[in-house]
Amino acid sequence: MATLRSSLHMLACRHAANVRIFSTATRRFTTTDQRFTMVERRFARTDRSVTDEVLRFSLDAPVQEALTPPSSWYKDTGIHDLEARTVWRNNWVAVGRTDQVSTPGAFFTGTIGREPFIVSSDRSNNLRAFYNVCCHHGNIVEFQEAGQANQFVCCYHGWTYGLDGRLTKPTKLRGIKNFTAGRNGLKPIAVRTWGPLVFLRMAGYPYEDEFDQKVLPLMEELDEMGFNSGMRHICRRQYQLKCNWKLIVDNASDGGYHLEYVHRDLSSNLDLSTFRTEVGDLYNMQVCTGKADSENSLKCQRVGAKAVYSCIYPNLLVNRYGPWLDINIVLPLGPDRSLMIYDFYLKESFADEMNEIELANFIEQSLKDSDQVQREDTLVCEGVQRGMESTAFDVGRYAPGPEMPVHAFHLQLARDLRTGLESMHISN
Ligand code: FES
Ligand SMILES: [Fe+2]
Repeated sequence: MATLRSSLHMLACRHAANVRIFSTATRRFTTTDQRFTMVERRFARTDRSVTDEVLRFSLDAPVQEALTPPSSWYKDTGIHDLEARTVWRNNWVAVGRTDQVSTPGAFFTGTIGREPFIVSSDRSNNLRAFYNVCCHHGNIVEFQEAGQANQFVCCYHGWTYGLDGRLTKPTKLRGIKNFTAGRNGLKPIAVRTWGPLVFLRMAGYPYEDEFDQKVLPLMEELDEMGFNSGMRHICRRQYQLKCNWKLIVDNASDGGYHLEYVHRDLSSNLDLSTFRTEVGDLYNMQVCTGKADSENSLKCQRVGAKAVYSCIYPNLLVNRYGPWLDINIVLPLGPDRSLMIYDFYLKESFADEMNEIELANFIEQSLKDSDQVQREDTLVCEGVQRGMESTAFDVGRYAPGPEMPVHAFHLQLARDLRTGLESMHISN
């Protein structure tokens, strides 16, 4: 009996492992103990492997018939790890702003999942990106979030790197063999820009970069509204949410479905009957007319006559409304934790027409409204996360009209995750 108890305990401890483990256990115990077999069957039914969970979402079902991804996608460490190897490596991931690195020596740091990075501008003002990891013993090299540097010095043993990532001073190595400084240094990361943003691709430069081509229609729409020029950066705000990063993108991709229920104040300034959605390969764009013409309150001016809310796969939300551009970068902090980085820009010509006090009031009121919208979104995103953790929820359904963009987002995710499974299969 003691043996059985310890075996059950072992099973419980290995609950996160996949079904194969339990099959092995079956051969050992089922012939002698019925109770154990019952427990094991229950585990086998409820505990699925990462592969099973990825494949549960259909690539073929039309939105009218489709089930949403299972709740495991929003909480399991196995899926979270698979995303780290696929979604966050193989796509261009937005990480910051070009104006943060516009002069030689300017840099900022951050983390994509478990990958710490530095983005810097070298002496010749070329944009560079590296893993923020020292090649001596792996310490983080630059701890500051942003700043100005002539070089990067690891605080542990003083190894020093140039702004281009080259190892310029490895300390106290007299007598070392088989070591060439030129072959060491900060590991480079592929980097590019789009409009005012910096993107990284951990897997290196793609053989053929299709990003521009795939987001072209969105790029044109945003350019017309001044995405690329004539905007002044006002401030950055950050929010930590107790939910999986995908819930933030899901929420921003529901075709305006939640607006009238979650954001009553905001939706009173929008003509929701005009809401239209466009879905591309790597983006969705949701456009709505504002009510700025009929009223002229600060709230109305904030939203203006037209609002564009867009999501660029995997982690970028670009919102352009009234005189405002707000850009949100979404990053995972764990399976059930996320970081949202908001950057607010205001149209130069709009700001120039106001006096200092009017402008300060307008900015303060707009940021307050925006914070309210985010707090309303946080409530539902964190609410859904709690529901996802419950045994009561496994899969859901899509409202076929508005939720077409969120279905497209899940399809893209599923393709990435399946590619990851295939490459794991090949390497095994
Ligand atoms: S870990 Fe960086 S110098 Fe030793
Ligand atoms: Fe919202």
